[in-house]
Amino acid sequence: MSTVARSPETQELPNFTRTRRLRRSPQIRAFVRENELWTRDLIYPLFIAEGTGICHEIASMPGQFQLSLDNLPAELDELNALGVPGVLLFGIPEYKDAIGSGAFDDGGIVQQAVRLIKEHSPETLVITDVCACEYTDHGHCGVLIDGDVDNDQTLPLLARTAISHARAGADIVAPSDMMDGRVAVLREALDGAGFAGVPIMSYAAKYASAYYGPFRDAVSSTPSFGDRRSHQMDPANSREAMREIEIDLEEGADLIIVKPALSYLDILRAAHDRFDVQLIAYNVSGEYAMVKAAAQLGWIDERRITLETLLSMKRAGASRIITYHAKDVARWLQEE
Ligand code: PBG
Ligand code: ZN
Repeated sequence: MSTVARSPETQELPNFTRTRRLRRSPQIRAFVRENELWTRDLIYPLFIAEGTGICHEIASMPGQFQLSLDNLPAELDELNALGVPGVLLFGIPEYKDAIGSGAFDDGGIVQQAVRLIKEHSPETLVITDVCACEYTDHGHCGVLIDGDVDNDQTLPLLARTAISHARAGADIVAPSDMMDGRVAVLREALDGAGFAGVPIMSYAAKYASAYYGPFRDAVSSTPSFGDRRSHQMDPANSREAMREIEIDLEEGADLIIVKPALSYLDILRAAHDRFDVQLIAYNVSGEYAMVKAAAQLGWIDERRITLETLLSMKRAGASRIITYHAKDVARWLQEE
Protein backbone atom coordinates (compact mmCIF):
# COMPACT_ATOMS: atom_id res chain seq x y z
CA MET A 1 0.00 0.00 0.00
CA SER A 2 3.05 2.18 0.01
CA THR A 3 2.73 5.37 -1.95
CA VAL A 4 6.47 5.76 -2.01
CA ALA A 5 7.71 5.76 -5.54
CA ARG A 6 9.50 2.61 -6.53
CA SER A 7 13.21 2.79 -6.99
CA PRO A 8 14.50 1.90 -10.43
CA GLU A 9 15.63 -1.54 -9.18
CA THR A 10 12.28 -2.57 -7.72
CA GLN A 11 10.42 -1.47 -10.83
CA GLU A 12 12.23 -4.26 -12.58
CA LEU A 13 11.04 -7.02 -10.23
CA PRO A 14 9.14 -9.85 -11.87
CA ASN A 15 5.55 -10.65 -11.06
CA PHE A 16 5.11 -12.67 -7.89
CA THR A 17 2.41 -13.62 -5.40
CA ARG A 18 2.10 -11.56 -2.23
CA THR A 19 1.08 -13.99 0.54
CA ARG A 20 2.11 -11.39 3.13
CA ARG A 21 -1.11 -9.49 2.36
CA LEU A 22 -3.04 -11.92 4.55
CA ARG A 23 -0.64 -11.44 7.47
CA ARG A 24 -0.69 -7.66 7.57
CA SER A 25 -2.85 -7.03 10.61
CA PRO A 26 -4.21 -8.93 13.61
CA GLN A 27 -7.70 -8.59 12.09
CA ILE A 28 -6.71 -10.14 8.78
CA ARG A 29 -4.69 -12.87 10.48
CA ALA A 30 -7.65 -13.76 12.68
CA PHE A 31 -9.95 -13.77 9.65
CA VAL A 32 -7.85 -16.30 7.72
CA ARG A 33 -6.85 -18.51 10.68
CA GLU A 34 -7.51 -22.15 9.79
CA ASN A 35 -7.30 -23.75 13.22
CA GLU A 36 -7.98 -22.48 16.71
CA LEU A 37 -7.57 -23.77 20.20
CA TRP A 38 -10.52 -23.38 22.53
CA THR A 39 -10.96 -24.19 26.21
CA ARG A 40 -13.87 -26.42 25.19
CA ASP A 41 -11.35 -28.65 23.36
CA LEU A 42 -9.63 -29.66 26.58
CA ILE A 43 -9.96 -32.65 28.86
CA TYR A 44 -8.13 -32.48 32.18
CA PRO A 45 -6.68 -35.66 33.74
CA LEU A 46 -7.20 -36.06 37.49
CA PHE A 47 -5.35 -38.42 39.85
CA ILE A 48 -7.68 -39.44 42.65
CA ALA A 49 -6.01 -40.91 45.72
CA GLU A 50 -7.64 -43.03 48.39
CA GLY A 51 -7.45 -41.36 51.81
CA THR A 52 -8.24 -37.87 53.10
CA GLY A 53 -6.46 -34.54 53.11
CA ILE A 54 -4.26 -35.53 50.18
CA CYS A 55 -3.07 -32.78 47.86
CA HIS A 56 0.31 -34.10 46.87
CA GLU A 57 2.24 -32.49 44.04
CA ILE A 58 3.76 -34.99 41.59
CA ALA A 59 7.51 -34.32 41.48
CA SER A 60 7.97 -34.86 37.74
CA MET A 61 4.71 -33.04 36.87
CA PRO A 62 4.89 -29.61 38.54
CA GLY A 63 1.41 -28.14 39.05
CA GLN A 64 -0.29 -31.58 38.96
CA PHE A 65 -1.53 -33.17 42.16
CA GLN A 66 -2.74 -36.43 43.61
CA LEU A 67 -6.03 -35.42 45.22
CA SER A 68 -8.22 -37.22 47.71
CA LEU A 69 -12.00 -37.07 47.36
CA ASP A 70 -12.40 -34.30 49.94
CA ASN A 71 -10.26 -32.03 47.74
CA LEU A 72 -12.22 -32.81 44.60
CA PRO A 73 -15.11 -30.32 44.94
CA ALA A 74 -12.73 -27.33 45.02
CA GLU A 75 -10.95 -28.69 41.96
CA LEU A 76 -14.26 -29.07 40.11
CA ASP A 77 -15.28 -25.53 41.04
CA GLU A 78 -12.01 -24.27 39.61
CA LEU A 79 -12.47 -26.22 36.36
CA ASN A 80 -16.02 -24.93 36.02
CA ALA A 81 -14.91 -21.33 36.59
CA LEU A 82 -12.30 -21.78 33.87
CA GLY A 83 -14.73 -23.46 31.48
CA VAL A 84 -12.83 -26.76 31.16
CA PRO A 85 -15.62 -29.15 30.13
CA GLY A 86 -14.34 -32.59 31.11
CA VAL A 87 -12.03 -34.73 33.18
CA LEU A 88 -10.27 -38.06 32.67
CA LEU A 89 -10.01 -40.03 35.90
CA PHE A 90 -7.15 -42.18 37.17
CA GLY A 91 -7.20 -43.93 40.53
CA ILE A 92 -4.50 -44.31 43.13
CA PRO A 93 -5.76 -47.15 45.35
CA GLU A 94 -4.39 -47.99 48.78
CA TYR A 95 -4.32 -51.73 48.08
CA LYS A 96 -3.16 -53.56 45.00
CA ASP A 97 -3.28 -57.25 44.10
CA ALA A 98 -2.28 -59.62 41.29
CA ILE A 99 -5.40 -59.07 39.15
CA GLY A 100 -6.06 -55.42 40.01
CA SER A 101 -9.43 -56.11 41.61
CA GLY A 102 -9.60 -52.52 42.88
CA ALA A 103 -10.29 -51.49 39.29
CA PHE A 104 -13.70 -53.15 39.19
CA ASP A 105 -14.75 -52.62 42.81
CA ASP A 106 -18.03 -50.65 42.90
CA GLY A 107 -16.65 -48.99 46.03
CA GLY A 108 -13.28 -48.32 44.36
CA ILE A 109 -11.62 -44.95 44.26
CA VAL A 110 -12.56 -44.05 40.69
CA GLN A 111 -16.16 -45.22 41.20
CA GLN A 112 -16.40 -43.03 44.31
CA ALA A 113 -14.92 -40.10 42.41
CA VAL A 114 -17.40 -40.49 39.54
CA ARG A 115 -20.33 -40.44 41.96
CA LEU A 116 -18.94 -37.41 43.77
CA ILE A 117 -18.39 -35.49 40.54
CA LYS A 118 -21.86 -36.31 39.22
CA GLU A 119 -23.29 -35.11 42.54
CA HIS A 120 -21.23 -31.95 42.91
CA SER A 121 -20.88 -30.94 39.28
CA PRO A 122 -23.35 -32.80 37.02
CA GLU A 123 -22.35 -30.68 34.03
CA THR A 124 -18.77 -32.02 34.05
CA LEU A 125 -18.07 -34.64 31.38
CA VAL A 126 -16.61 -37.63 33.22
CA ILE A 127 -14.35 -39.98 31.29
CA THR A 128 -12.71 -42.94 33.06
CA ASP A 129 -9.48 -44.66 32.10
CA VAL A 130 -10.10 -48.40 31.97
CA CYS A 131 -6.94 -50.39 32.74
CA ALA A 132 -5.54 -52.58 35.48
CA CYS A 133 -2.02 -51.20 35.88
CA GLU A 134 -2.86 -48.72 38.66
CA TYR A 135 -4.40 -51.59 40.64
CA THR A 136 -2.01 -54.51 40.10
CA ASP A 137 0.82 -55.11 42.57
CA HIS A 138 3.14 -55.87 39.62
CA GLY A 139 2.17 -52.74 37.67
CA HIS A 140 1.18 -54.55 34.48
CA CYS A 141 -2.02 -53.81 32.56
CA GLY A 142 -3.70 -57.15 33.21
CA VAL A 143 -3.41 -60.73 34.41
CA LEU A 144 0.12 -62.15 34.19
CA ILE A 145 0.76 -65.65 32.91
CA ASP A 146 4.37 -66.75 32.50
CA GLY A 147 5.52 -63.16 32.86
CA ASP A 148 3.35 -61.71 30.08
CA VAL A 149 -0.05 -60.03 30.19
CA ASP A 150 -2.58 -62.66 29.17
CA ASN A 151 -4.95 -61.14 26.64
CA ASP A 152 -8.03 -63.29 27.04
CA GLN A 153 -7.95 -63.53 30.82
CA THR A 154 -7.60 -59.76 31.08
CA LEU A 155 -10.63 -59.02 28.88
CA PRO A 156 -13.36 -60.00 31.39
CA LEU A 157 -11.69 -57.89 34.10
CA LEU A 158 -11.67 -54.89 31.78
CA ALA A 159 -15.35 -55.49 31.03
CA ARG A 160 -16.17 -55.59 34.74
CA THR A 161 -14.22 -52.35 35.22
CA ALA A 162 -16.07 -50.57 32.42
CA ILE A 163 -19.46 -51.71 33.71
CA SER A 164 -18.55 -50.63 37.21
CA HIS A 165 -17.54 -47.17 35.94
CA ALA A 166 -20.76 -46.89 33.92
CA ARG A 167 -22.82 -47.94 36.95
CA ALA A 168 -21.14 -45.17 38.97
CA GLY A 169 -22.23 -42.70 36.29
CA ALA A 170 -19.26 -42.30 33.93
CA ASP A 171 -20.23 -40.53 30.70
CA ILE A 172 -17.54 -42.23 28.57
CA VAL A 173 -15.18 -45.15 29.22
CA ALA A 174 -11.66 -45.11 27.80
CA PRO A 175 -9.84 -48.46 27.64
CA SER A 176 -6.05 -47.90 27.63
CA ASP A 177 -4.80 -51.46 28.03
CA MET A 178 -4.17 -52.38 24.35
CA MET A 179 -5.50 -55.93 24.68
CA ASP A 180 -6.88 -57.38 21.43
CA GLY A 181 -10.66 -57.54 21.28
CA ARG A 182 -11.24 -55.30 24.27
CA VAL A 183 -13.54 -52.88 22.45
CA ALA A 184 -15.76 -55.74 21.24
CA VAL A 185 -15.83 -57.25 24.72
CA LEU A 186 -16.51 -53.91 26.42
CA ARG A 187 -19.28 -53.00 23.97
CA GLU A 188 -21.04 -56.32 24.45
CA ALA A 189 -20.65 -56.18 28.22
CA LEU A 190 -21.88 -52.58 28.48
CA ASP A 191 -24.87 -53.30 26.23
CA GLY A 192 -25.71 -56.42 28.22
CA ALA A 193 -25.58 -54.50 31.49
CA GLY A 194 -27.97 -51.82 30.25
CA PHE A 195 -25.33 -49.27 29.25
CA ALA A 196 -25.78 -49.25 25.48
CA GLY A 197 -25.71 -45.46 25.70
CA VAL A 198 -22.22 -45.21 27.16
CA PRO A 199 -19.64 -44.44 24.43
CA ILE A 200 -16.23 -46.11 24.22
CA MET A 201 -13.30 -43.79 23.63
CA SER A 202 -10.56 -46.21 22.69
CA TYR A 203 -6.84 -45.63 23.08
CA ALA A 204 -6.55 -47.33 19.68
CA ALA A 205 -3.14 -46.05 18.64
CA LYS A 206 -1.18 -46.22 21.85
CA TYR A 207 2.57 -46.56 21.62
CA ALA A 208 5.06 -48.14 24.04
CA SER A 209 6.51 -44.76 24.93
CA ALA A 210 9.10 -43.30 27.27
CA TYR A 211 6.83 -40.23 27.41
CA TYR A 212 4.65 -41.99 30.04
CA GLY A 213 7.45 -41.91 32.63
CA PRO A 214 6.12 -39.08 34.84
CA PHE A 215 2.60 -40.55 34.77
CA ARG A 216 3.90 -43.84 36.13
CA ASP A 217 5.50 -41.88 38.99
CA ALA A 218 2.15 -40.20 39.59
CA VAL A 219 0.20 -43.43 39.95
CA SER A 220 3.07 -45.81 40.85
CA SER A 221 2.30 -48.09 37.90
CA THR A 222 5.82 -48.73 36.64
CA PRO A 223 5.96 -52.46 35.86
CA SER A 224 8.00 -54.26 38.55
CA PHE A 225 9.78 -56.09 35.69
CA GLY A 226 9.76 -55.88 31.92
CA ASP A 227 7.83 -53.32 29.89
CA ARG A 228 4.63 -52.95 27.88
CA ARG A 229 6.03 -53.74 24.45
CA SER A 230 4.09 -57.00 24.12
CA HIS A 231 0.85 -54.97 23.81
CA GLN A 232 1.57 -51.26 23.27
CA MET A 233 2.71 -50.34 19.76
CA ASP A 234 6.23 -50.03 18.40
CA PRO A 235 7.05 -46.31 17.86
CA ALA A 236 8.53 -47.28 14.50
CA ASN A 237 5.15 -48.17 13.01
CA SER A 238 2.46 -46.01 11.43
CA ARG A 239 0.53 -48.33 9.10
CA GLU A 240 -0.04 -50.60 12.08
CA ALA A 241 -1.73 -47.68 13.84
CA MET A 242 -4.24 -47.40 10.99
CA ARG A 243 -4.98 -51.10 11.41
CA GLU A 244 -5.46 -50.72 15.18
CA ILE A 245 -7.87 -47.83 14.62
CA GLU A 246 -9.77 -49.67 11.91
CA ILE A 247 -10.19 -52.74 14.12
CA ASP A 248 -11.36 -50.69 17.11
CA LEU A 249 -13.91 -48.86 14.94
CA GLU A 250 -15.17 -52.19 13.58
CA GLU A 251 -15.46 -53.48 17.14
CA GLY A 252 -17.61 -50.48 18.04
CA ALA A 253 -15.35 -47.70 19.32
CA ASP A 254 -17.09 -44.31 19.18
CA LEU A 255 -14.02 -42.12 19.61
CA ILE A 256 -10.32 -42.74 19.03
CA ILE A 257 -7.33 -41.59 21.06
CA VAL A 258 -3.84 -41.19 19.60
CA LYS A 259 -1.17 -41.30 22.29
CA PRO A 260 1.36 -39.78 22.81
CA ALA A 261 0.53 -36.74 20.71
CA LEU A 262 3.56 -34.60 19.96
CA SER A 263 5.86 -37.25 18.48
CA TYR A 264 2.88 -38.83 16.71
CA LEU A 265 1.35 -35.90 14.85
CA ASP A 266 1.87 -37.85 11.63
CA ILE A 267 -0.37 -40.59 13.01
CA LEU A 268 -3.07 -38.04 13.89
CA ARG A 269 -2.89 -36.59 10.39
CA ALA A 270 -2.99 -39.99 8.67
CA ALA A 271 -5.91 -41.13 10.83
CA HIS A 272 -7.77 -37.88 10.21
CA ASP A 273 -7.42 -38.28 6.46
CA ARG A 274 -8.57 -41.87 6.58
CA PHE A 275 -11.35 -42.21 9.16
CA ASP A 276 -14.56 -40.23 9.63
CA VAL A 277 -14.36 -40.22 13.40
CA GLN A 278 -13.41 -37.72 16.08
CA LEU A 279 -9.78 -38.07 17.10
CA ILE A 280 -8.57 -37.20 20.56
CA ALA A 281 -4.88 -36.38 21.11
CA TYR A 282 -3.36 -37.32 24.45
CA ASN A 283 -0.67 -34.74 25.30
CA VAL A 284 1.01 -37.07 27.79
CA SER A 285 2.92 -36.60 31.03
CA GLY A 286 6.43 -36.62 29.51
CA GLU A 287 5.45 -33.92 27.01
CA TYR A 288 4.15 -31.83 29.90
CA ALA A 289 7.24 -32.49 32.05
CA MET A 290 9.64 -31.35 29.33
CA VAL A 291 7.83 -28.05 28.84
CA LYS A 292 7.62 -27.44 32.59
CA ALA A 293 11.30 -28.21 33.16
CA ALA A 294 12.51 -25.96 30.37
CA ALA A 295 10.16 -23.20 31.50
CA GLN A 296 11.44 -23.42 35.08
CA LEU A 297 14.97 -23.01 33.75
CA GLY A 298 13.85 -19.92 31.88
CA TRP A 299 14.81 -21.49 28.57
CA ILE A 300 11.44 -21.26 26.83
CA ASP A 301 8.29 -19.16 26.96
CA GLU A 302 5.91 -21.65 28.59
CA ARG A 303 2.73 -19.94 27.45
CA ARG A 304 3.69 -19.57 23.80
CA ILE A 305 5.27 -23.03 23.60
CA THR A 306 2.22 -24.68 25.14
CA LEU A 307 -0.34 -22.89 22.98
CA GLU A 308 1.70 -23.57 19.84
CA THR A 309 2.12 -27.25 20.74
CA LEU A 310 -1.56 -27.84 21.43
CA LEU A 311 -2.51 -25.93 18.28
CA SER A 312 -0.24 -28.25 16.29
CA MET A 313 -2.30 -31.19 17.56
CA LYS A 314 -5.50 -29.59 16.30
CA ARG A 315 -3.86 -28.77 12.99
CA ALA A 316 -2.75 -32.39 12.67
CA GLY A 317 -6.35 -33.54 13.03
CA ALA A 318 -7.29 -33.80 16.69
CA SER A 319 -10.70 -32.47 17.57
CA ARG A 320 -10.08 -32.60 21.32
CA ILE A 321 -6.97 -32.78 23.51
CA ILE A 322 -6.35 -34.49 26.84
CA THR A 323 -3.77 -32.30 28.56
CA TYR A 324 -2.28 -31.49 31.95
CA HIS A 325 -1.93 -27.90 30.67
CA ALA A 326 -5.74 -27.53 30.51
CA LYS A 327 -6.16 -25.11 33.43
CA ASP A 328 -3.21 -22.92 32.40
CA VAL A 329 -4.46 -22.82 28.82
CA ALA A 330 -7.96 -21.90 29.94
CA ARG A 331 -6.49 -19.01 31.96
CA TRP A 332 -4.35 -17.81 29.07
CA LEU A 333 -7.25 -18.00 26.63
CA GLN A 334 -9.40 -15.98 29.05
CA GLU A 335 -6.71 -13.28 29.01
CA GLU A 336 -6.40 -13.12 25.23
C1 PBG B 1 -2.67 -46.76 31.75
C2 PBG B 1 -2.31 -45.42 31.21
C3 PBG B 1 -1.04 -44.83 31.03
C4 PBG B 1 -1.25 -43.53 30.59
C5 PBG B 1 -2.62 -43.36 30.47
N1 PBG B 1 -3.26 -44.54 30.83
C6 PBG B 1 0.31 -45.36 31.32
C7 PBG B 1 0.84 -46.50 30.57
O1 PBG B 1 0.24 -47.01 29.63
O2 PBG B 1 1.92 -46.93 30.97
C8 PBG B 1 -0.17 -42.51 30.32
C9 PBG B 1 -0.61 -41.07 30.47
C10 PBG B 1 0.49 -40.07 30.51
O3 PBG B 1 1.70 -40.38 30.39
O4 PBG B 1 0.16 -38.89 30.68
N2 PBG B 1 -2.46 -47.83 30.92
ZN1 ZN C 1 -2.31 -49.95 31.91
